[in-house]
Amino acid sequence: MNSFAHPTRNLALELVRVTEAAALAAGRYMGRGDKIAADQAAVNAMRLILNTVQMDGIIVIGEGEKDEAPMLFNGERLGTGDKPEVDIAVDPIDGTRPLAFGRSGSISTVALAPRGTMFNPGPIVYMHKIAVGPQARGAIDINAPVGVNLHNIARAMSVDVDDLVVVILDRPRHEQLIADVRRCGARIRLIHDGDVAGALMTADPDSNIDVLMGIGGTPEGVLAACALRATGGEMQGKLYARDDKDYQAGRDAGYDFDRVLMIEDLVSSDDVFFAATGLTTGELLKGVTYFADGARTESLVMRGLTGTTRRISATHSLKKLDLVSSIHY
Ligand code: FBP
Repeated sequence: MNSFAHPTRNLALELVRVTEAAALAAGRYMGRGDKIAADQAAVNAMRLILNTVQMDGIIVIGEGEKDEAPMLFNGERLGTGDKPEVDIAVDPIDGTRPLAFGRSGSISTVALAPRGTMFNPGPIVYMHKIAVGPQARGAIDINAPVGVNLHNIARAMSVDVDDLVVVILDRPRHEQLIADVRRCGARIRLIHDGDVAGALMTADPDSNIDVLMGIGGTPEGVLAACALRATGGEMQGKLYARDDKDYQAGRDAGYDFDRVLMIEDLVSSDDVFFAATGLTTGELLKGVTYFADGARTESLVMRGLTGTTRRISATHSLKKLDLVSSIHY
Protein backbone atom coordinates (compact mmCIF):
# COMPACT_ATOMS: atom_id res chain seq x y z
CA MET A 1 0.00 0.00 0.00
CA ASN A 2 1.27 3.48 -0.82
CA SER A 3 1.67 5.91 2.01
CA PHE A 4 1.22 9.42 0.68
CA ALA A 5 3.10 12.27 2.28
CA HIS A 6 2.70 15.98 1.76
CA PRO A 7 4.85 17.20 -1.11
CA THR A 8 8.24 18.12 0.31
CA ARG A 9 10.78 20.77 -0.58
CA ASN A 10 12.51 20.45 -3.94
CA LEU A 11 16.04 21.59 -3.10
CA ALA A 12 16.98 21.42 -6.78
CA LEU A 13 14.90 24.55 -7.34
CA GLU A 14 17.27 26.29 -4.92
CA LEU A 15 20.33 24.66 -6.48
CA VAL A 16 19.54 26.20 -9.83
CA ARG A 17 20.23 29.62 -8.31
CA VAL A 18 23.66 28.26 -7.36
CA THR A 19 24.59 27.12 -10.88
CA GLU A 20 23.03 30.20 -12.45
CA ALA A 21 25.15 32.45 -10.23
CA ALA A 22 28.31 30.48 -11.06
CA ALA A 23 27.50 30.63 -14.77
CA LEU A 24 26.71 34.36 -14.72
CA ALA A 25 29.97 35.11 -12.89
CA ALA A 26 32.25 32.77 -14.87
CA GLY A 27 30.57 33.31 -18.24
CA ARG A 28 32.37 36.68 -18.39
CA TYR A 29 35.63 34.77 -18.82
CA MET A 30 34.62 32.98 -22.01
CA GLY A 31 37.54 32.95 -24.40
CA ARG A 32 39.77 35.11 -22.21
CA GLY A 33 42.29 32.35 -21.69
CA ASP A 34 42.33 32.53 -17.90
CA LYS A 35 41.13 29.21 -16.39
CA ILE A 36 42.04 30.13 -12.82
CA ALA A 37 40.16 33.45 -12.84
CA ALA A 38 37.12 31.77 -14.38
CA ASP A 39 37.18 29.01 -11.76
CA GLN A 40 37.62 31.54 -8.96
CA ALA A 41 34.60 33.52 -10.16
CA ALA A 42 32.45 30.36 -10.37
CA VAL A 43 33.60 29.11 -6.96
CA ASN A 44 32.93 32.45 -5.23
CA ALA A 45 29.43 32.73 -6.69
CA MET A 46 28.63 29.11 -5.92
CA ARG A 47 29.77 29.38 -2.32
CA LEU A 48 27.78 32.60 -1.77
CA ILE A 49 24.48 31.06 -2.89
CA LEU A 50 25.08 27.58 -1.42
CA ASN A 51 25.43 29.25 1.96
CA THR A 52 21.90 30.65 1.66
CA VAL A 53 20.33 27.21 1.14
CA GLN A 54 18.55 25.83 4.20
CA MET A 55 20.65 22.69 4.73
CA ASP A 56 23.56 21.33 6.70
CA GLY A 57 25.85 20.44 3.82
CA ILE A 58 29.31 18.92 3.61
CA ILE A 59 31.27 18.90 0.37
CA VAL A 60 32.13 15.34 -0.60
CA ILE A 61 32.95 16.09 -4.21
CA GLY A 62 34.88 19.33 -4.24
CA GLU A 63 36.68 21.37 -6.83
CA GLY A 64 40.25 21.68 -7.75
CA GLU A 65 42.28 18.62 -6.68
CA LYS A 66 43.06 17.55 -10.28
CA ASP A 67 43.46 21.05 -11.68
CA GLU A 68 44.91 22.77 -8.61
CA ALA A 69 42.04 25.21 -9.04
CA PRO A 70 40.54 27.53 -6.43
CA MET A 71 38.71 25.22 -4.08
CA LEU A 72 35.32 24.47 -2.75
CA PHE A 73 37.24 21.97 -0.68
CA ASN A 74 36.24 18.49 0.44
CA GLY A 75 34.87 18.63 3.98
CA GLU A 76 33.82 22.29 3.69
CA ARG A 77 30.49 22.91 5.43
CA LEU A 78 27.94 24.94 3.54
CA GLY A 79 24.35 26.03 3.97
CA THR A 80 22.47 27.61 6.88
CA GLY A 81 23.30 24.67 9.18
CA ASP A 82 19.62 23.64 9.52
CA LYS A 83 18.31 20.23 8.47
CA PRO A 84 18.42 18.35 6.12
CA GLU A 85 21.93 16.93 6.48
CA VAL A 86 23.31 16.45 2.99
CA ASP A 87 26.38 15.56 0.96
CA ILE A 88 27.28 18.12 -1.71
CA ALA A 89 28.98 17.51 -5.05
CA VAL A 90 30.13 20.52 -7.06
CA ASP A 91 31.80 21.16 -10.36
CA PRO A 92 31.61 24.95 -10.66
CA ILE A 93 32.89 24.61 -14.24
CA ASP A 94 32.85 21.28 -16.01
CA GLY A 95 34.81 22.27 -19.05
CA THR A 96 37.19 24.93 -17.77
CA ARG A 97 39.25 24.72 -20.97
CA PRO A 98 36.31 25.15 -23.34
CA LEU A 99 35.19 28.14 -21.32
CA ALA A 100 38.64 29.73 -21.17
CA PHE A 101 39.24 29.16 -24.89
CA GLY A 102 35.75 29.97 -26.11
CA ARG A 103 34.71 26.47 -27.12
CA SER A 104 31.34 24.83 -26.70
CA GLY A 105 29.77 22.70 -24.00
CA SER A 106 31.00 23.92 -20.61
CA ILE A 107 28.48 23.83 -17.76
CA SER A 108 28.25 24.61 -14.06
CA THR A 109 26.83 21.85 -11.92
CA VAL A 110 25.93 20.82 -8.36
CA ALA A 111 24.17 17.88 -6.66
CA LEU A 112 22.87 17.09 -3.16
CA ALA A 113 22.04 13.75 -1.56
CA PRO A 114 21.35 12.67 2.03
CA ARG A 115 24.43 12.65 4.31
CA GLY A 116 26.69 9.67 3.78
CA THR A 117 25.14 8.54 0.48
CA MET A 118 27.66 9.89 -2.06
CA PHE A 119 30.74 7.90 -3.02
CA ASN A 120 33.87 9.59 -1.74
CA PRO A 121 36.64 9.07 -4.30
CA GLY A 122 39.42 10.21 -1.95
CA PRO A 123 42.65 10.67 -3.89
CA ILE A 124 41.47 8.87 -7.05
CA VAL A 125 40.93 11.42 -9.81
CA TYR A 126 39.96 9.14 -12.73
CA MET A 127 37.49 6.35 -13.35
CA HIS A 128 36.28 4.15 -16.20
CA LYS A 129 32.67 4.99 -17.01
CA ILE A 130 29.78 3.60 -18.95
CA ALA A 131 26.46 5.45 -18.85
CA VAL A 132 23.12 5.10 -20.61
CA GLY A 133 19.64 6.60 -20.47
CA PRO A 134 16.50 4.93 -19.05
CA GLN A 135 15.79 2.84 -22.17
CA ALA A 136 19.05 0.93 -21.83
CA ARG A 137 18.99 0.57 -18.08
CA GLY A 138 20.05 -2.94 -17.09
CA ALA A 139 21.86 -3.53 -20.38
CA ILE A 140 25.39 -2.43 -19.39
CA ASP A 141 28.32 -4.23 -17.78
CA ILE A 142 31.56 -2.29 -17.43
CA ASN A 143 33.57 -5.54 -17.41
CA ALA A 144 32.09 -6.79 -20.69
CA PRO A 145 33.76 -6.14 -24.06
CA VAL A 146 32.64 -3.01 -25.96
CA GLY A 147 30.83 -5.12 -28.58
CA VAL A 148 28.76 -6.96 -25.98
CA ASN A 149 27.70 -3.70 -24.34
CA LEU A 150 26.77 -2.09 -27.66
CA HIS A 151 24.83 -5.16 -28.74
CA ASN A 152 22.88 -5.29 -25.45
CA ILE A 153 22.22 -1.54 -25.45
CA ALA A 154 20.98 -1.67 -29.06
CA ARG A 155 18.68 -4.59 -28.23
CA ALA A 156 17.28 -2.81 -25.17
CA MET A 157 16.60 0.28 -27.30
CA SER A 158 15.14 -1.74 -30.20
CA VAL A 159 17.70 -0.33 -32.64
CA ASP A 160 20.74 -1.70 -34.47
CA VAL A 161 24.28 -1.19 -33.22
CA ASP A 162 25.01 1.07 -36.20
CA ASP A 163 22.17 3.36 -35.06
CA LEU A 164 23.89 4.01 -31.72
CA VAL A 165 25.99 7.10 -30.96
CA VAL A 166 28.74 6.71 -28.35
CA VAL A 167 30.13 9.85 -26.73
CA ILE A 168 33.83 9.60 -25.83
CA LEU A 169 36.34 12.14 -24.50
CA ASP A 170 38.92 12.82 -27.21
CA ARG A 171 42.04 11.58 -25.42
CA PRO A 172 44.99 9.40 -26.52
CA ARG A 173 44.03 6.94 -23.75
CA HIS A 174 40.85 6.16 -25.70
CA GLU A 175 42.54 5.06 -28.95
CA GLN A 176 41.69 1.40 -28.36
CA LEU A 177 38.14 2.15 -27.20
CA ILE A 178 37.51 4.25 -30.31
CA ALA A 179 38.88 1.48 -32.54
CA ASP A 180 36.64 -1.09 -30.80
CA VAL A 181 33.52 1.05 -31.19
CA ARG A 182 34.33 1.64 -34.87
CA ARG A 183 34.82 -2.08 -35.46
CA CYS A 184 31.34 -2.73 -34.03
CA GLY A 185 29.83 -0.19 -36.45
CA ALA A 186 28.42 2.28 -33.92
CA ARG A 187 28.83 6.00 -34.51
CA ILE A 188 31.02 8.21 -32.31
CA ARG A 189 30.69 11.73 -30.95
CA LEU A 190 34.14 12.85 -29.75
CA ILE A 191 34.08 15.64 -27.18
CA HIS A 192 37.06 17.73 -26.10
CA ASP A 193 35.84 18.05 -22.51
CA GLY A 194 32.78 17.78 -20.30
CA ASP A 195 31.74 14.22 -19.65
CA VAL A 196 29.06 15.24 -17.10
CA ALA A 197 27.14 16.74 -20.03
CA GLY A 198 28.14 13.69 -22.09
CA ALA A 199 26.54 11.36 -19.54
CA LEU A 200 23.44 13.55 -19.19
CA MET A 201 22.88 13.55 -22.93
CA THR A 202 22.36 9.78 -22.86
CA ALA A 203 19.19 10.43 -20.85
CA ASP A 204 18.06 13.49 -22.81
CA PRO A 205 15.33 12.56 -25.32
CA ASP A 206 16.31 15.58 -27.44
CA SER A 207 19.91 14.47 -27.93
CA ASN A 208 21.01 11.68 -30.24
CA ILE A 209 23.64 10.38 -27.79
CA ASP A 210 22.99 6.86 -26.50
CA VAL A 211 26.05 5.81 -24.50
CA LEU A 212 29.01 7.41 -22.72
CA MET A 213 32.16 5.30 -22.56
CA GLY A 214 35.73 5.92 -21.42
CA ILE A 215 37.88 7.27 -18.62
CA GLY A 216 37.09 10.65 -17.09
CA GLY A 217 37.16 12.46 -13.76
CA THR A 218 35.85 10.62 -10.67
CA PRO A 219 34.12 13.74 -9.26
CA GLU A 220 32.37 14.19 -12.60
CA GLY A 221 31.35 10.53 -12.38
CA VAL A 222 29.58 11.03 -9.05
CA LEU A 223 27.82 14.15 -10.32
CA ALA A 224 26.67 12.35 -13.46
CA ALA A 225 25.48 9.41 -11.34
CA CYS A 226 23.28 11.78 -9.28
CA ALA A 227 21.68 13.15 -12.45
CA LEU A 228 21.25 9.72 -14.02
CA ARG A 229 19.71 8.38 -10.84
CA ALA A 230 17.21 11.21 -10.98
CA THR A 231 16.34 10.57 -14.63
CA GLY A 232 16.23 6.77 -14.41
CA GLY A 233 19.37 6.14 -16.44
CA GLU A 234 22.25 3.92 -15.40
CA MET A 235 25.96 4.27 -14.89
CA GLN A 236 28.79 1.99 -13.80
CA GLY A 237 32.33 2.94 -12.92
CA LYS A 238 35.68 1.48 -11.97
CA LEU A 239 38.49 3.50 -10.45
CA TYR A 240 41.47 4.05 -12.74
CA ALA A 241 45.12 4.62 -11.77
CA ARG A 242 47.26 6.59 -14.24
CA ASP A 243 50.47 5.19 -12.82
CA ASP A 244 52.00 3.26 -9.89
CA LYS A 245 51.89 6.35 -7.68
CA ASP A 246 48.13 6.74 -8.24
CA TYR A 247 47.63 3.04 -7.66
CA GLN A 248 49.59 3.04 -4.39
CA ALA A 249 47.83 6.16 -3.10
CA GLY A 250 44.49 4.49 -3.82
CA ARG A 251 45.47 1.20 -2.21
CA ASP A 252 46.85 3.01 0.87
CA ALA A 253 43.53 4.83 1.24
CA GLY A 254 41.66 1.51 1.06
CA TYR A 255 40.27 1.69 -2.50
CA ASP A 256 39.78 -1.35 -4.73
CA PHE A 257 40.53 -0.73 -8.42
CA ASP A 258 38.75 -3.95 -9.48
CA ARG A 259 35.46 -3.17 -7.78
CA VAL A 260 32.57 -2.32 -10.07
CA LEU A 261 30.86 0.79 -8.78
CA MET A 262 27.18 0.50 -9.63
CA ILE A 263 25.09 3.66 -9.75
CA GLU A 264 23.81 2.76 -6.25
CA ASP A 265 27.43 2.75 -5.03
CA LEU A 266 28.11 6.15 -6.57
CA VAL A 267 25.03 7.59 -4.87
CA SER A 268 23.06 5.26 -2.65
CA SER A 269 19.85 7.30 -2.28
CA ASP A 270 17.07 8.13 -4.73
CA ASP A 271 16.51 11.37 -2.83
CA VAL A 272 19.00 13.30 -4.99
CA PHE A 273 18.85 16.83 -6.34
CA PHE A 274 20.82 18.06 -9.33
CA ALA A 275 21.17 21.32 -11.24
CA ALA A 276 23.30 22.40 -14.19
CA THR A 277 23.52 25.71 -16.07
CA GLY A 278 25.15 26.23 -19.47
CA LEU A 279 28.24 28.41 -19.61
CA THR A 280 29.10 28.10 -23.29
CA THR A 281 26.51 26.80 -25.74
CA GLY A 282 26.64 23.06 -26.26
CA GLU A 283 24.40 20.18 -27.29
CA LEU A 284 22.81 19.98 -23.83
CA LEU A 285 22.39 23.61 -22.77
CA LYS A 286 22.64 27.11 -24.18
CA GLY A 287 25.45 29.25 -22.77
CA VAL A 288 25.10 32.56 -20.95
CA THR A 289 24.03 35.50 -23.10
CA TYR A 290 24.70 39.01 -21.81
CA PHE A 291 22.79 42.03 -23.07
CA ALA A 292 22.21 45.61 -21.94
CA ASP A 293 21.73 45.42 -18.14
CA GLY A 294 20.86 41.75 -18.20
CA ALA A 295 21.68 38.16 -19.02
CA ARG A 296 19.94 34.92 -19.96
CA THR A 297 20.75 31.43 -18.72
CA GLU A 298 19.47 27.95 -19.46
CA SER A 299 19.48 25.24 -16.78
CA LEU A 300 18.42 21.69 -16.03
CA VAL A 301 16.93 20.88 -12.64
CA MET A 302 16.31 17.31 -11.49
CA ARG A 303 14.82 15.62 -8.47
CA GLY A 304 15.35 11.92 -7.86
CA LEU A 305 12.40 11.24 -5.58
CA THR A 306 9.83 12.33 -8.15
CA GLY A 307 11.86 11.94 -11.34
CA THR A 308 10.93 15.47 -12.42
CA THR A 309 13.32 17.21 -14.81
CA ARG A 310 12.82 20.88 -15.55
CA ARG A 311 14.52 22.99 -18.18
CA ILE A 312 14.61 26.56 -16.90
CA SER A 313 15.30 29.56 -19.04
CA ALA A 314 15.95 32.61 -16.85
CA THR A 315 16.35 36.30 -17.54
CA HIS A 316 18.47 38.13 -14.97
CA SER A 317 18.51 41.86 -14.39
CA LEU A 318 22.17 42.54 -13.71
CA LYS A 319 21.32 46.12 -12.83
CA LYS A 320 19.01 44.98 -10.01
CA LEU A 321 21.36 42.20 -8.91
CA ASP A 322 24.10 44.79 -8.53
CA LEU A 323 22.00 46.52 -5.86
CA VAL A 324 21.53 43.38 -3.72
CA SER A 325 24.46 41.08 -4.43
CA SER A 326 28.02 41.24 -3.17
CA ILE A 327 29.09 39.76 -6.52
CA HIS A 328 29.30 41.91 -9.61
CA TYR A 329 28.03 39.86 -12.53
P1 FBP B 1 37.33 20.36 -15.65
O1 FBP B 1 36.83 21.42 -16.53
O2 FBP B 1 36.64 20.36 -14.31
O3 FBP B 1 38.80 20.35 -15.58
O4 FBP B 1 36.91 18.93 -16.28
C1 FBP B 1 36.79 18.77 -17.66
C2 FBP B 1 36.83 17.30 -18.02
O5 FBP B 1 36.74 17.17 -19.42
C3 FBP B 1 35.76 16.45 -17.35
O6 FBP B 1 34.48 16.57 -17.91
C4 FBP B 1 36.34 15.08 -17.48
O7 FBP B 1 35.76 14.16 -16.58
C5 FBP B 1 37.80 15.33 -17.20
O8 FBP B 1 38.04 16.70 -17.55
C6 FBP B 1 38.73 14.45 -17.96
O9 FBP B 1 40.03 14.67 -17.52
P2 FBP B 1 41.27 14.94 -18.48
O10 FBP B 1 41.02 16.27 -19.18
O11 FBP B 1 42.44 15.00 -17.60
O12 FBP B 1 41.30 13.83 -19.47
